[in-house]
Amino acid sequence: MNRLLISSGLGLFAAATFLSLSAQSPQAPPLSSHEAAGAKTFSTNCAGCHGADGRGGERAPNIATSRNIIALSDDDLEGIVKKGVPGTGMPSFSYLGDQPVKDVLAYLRRLQGKTSMVKVTGDASAGHDLFFGRAECSQCHMIKGEGGYIGSDLTDYAAGAAPDAVKLAITNPDDSLTPTSTVVELQLSNGEHISGMARAEDNFHITVQTKDGRWRTFDKSKLADLKHTGRSPHPRDYETKLSAKELDDLVSYLTVSAANAPAKGGRRRGQ
Ligand code: HEC
Ligand code: HEC
Repeated sequence: MNRLLISSGLGLFAAATFLSLSAQSPQAPPLSSHEAAGAKTFSTNCAGCHGADGRGGERAPNIATSRNIIALSDDDLEGIVKKGVPGTGMPSFSYLGDQPVKDVLAYLRRLQGKTSMVKVTGDASAGHDLFFGRAECSQCHMIKGEGGYIGSDLTDYAAGAAPDAVKLAITNPDDSLTPTSTVVELQLSNGEHISGMARAEDNFHITVQTKDGRWRTFDKSKLADLKHTGRSPHPRDYETKLSAKELDDLVSYLTVSAANAPAKGGRRRGQ
């Protein structure tokens, strides 16, 4: 059975990618009665392992935005849910009965649709060029294994996120600031000045990661000065440095990258 599923998953690969980028309406219609019944079944029987949004948990992979699962036919999905996947921890749910299984799959399709309804208004390939070029994002962030590592890996950052939220993360970095990505300025007793992110800190020591990626730990009592700036190292001037169209292109690039990213939390089918 598995081999059959693998090939059907790959066969529809292109179609699923297309689907996930072409759906237009960001406003989902209300749940049908079958979908609503399926939502209940899902939360009792599936969410514990696959997560409430189906995007994966500790015990089971992402089945909501994984293109390999989206690409499976309804019959394939029904077979999986009824028979389970022997030897993997995916139980058989045939005991639920035919209609409840159909309902839960209708709801799963809804979860898949909801998260795949991305509207890309910009030019993703221009966004790619900005990311690795003039906007210098890749000095700090990585996408698909390319770029810097001071900032987070953005390969699937935009998955399921509203374009406006992605744009805000780019233009207003301090809104999403975490203590470990806050810039600190250190003055050493020998006069040397160091600026970096406060990756770890207690009463006595502070560990700083500098822009070149190096980690250095200092004894606080030996510092001439230590300033917490409350800022992110992510530049604060993108709103003015980039045009509205360029920002749109970048958001589109991140969105397309996320739509094409492998699912989190599970092995990749067919790899
Ligand atoms: C006890 C944990 C658990 C529960 C509960 C569970 N699953 Fe799974 N599920 C798994 C695991 C583990 C896998 C990965 C199987 C594999 O490695 O192929 C999986 C895989 C799947 C897959 C993808 C199979 C594939 O071919 O990759 C689907 C679809 C799925 N589950 C749907 C459901 C639905 C719908 C429910 C609720 C009716 C559910 N699961 C409940 C653990 C669970
Ligand atoms: C000088 C380094 C640097 C540059 C250049 C930079 N960023 Fe960032 N960015 C960061 C850091 C550090 C954070 C804080 C969160 C983290 O640790 O990634 C961040 C946060 C973000 C976030 C929010 C991520 C999250 O996990 O919350 C996004 C999205 C983002 N940057 C996109 C971009 C884009 C797009 C560009 C180029 C236009 C860019 N960044 C340029 C360092 C940088």
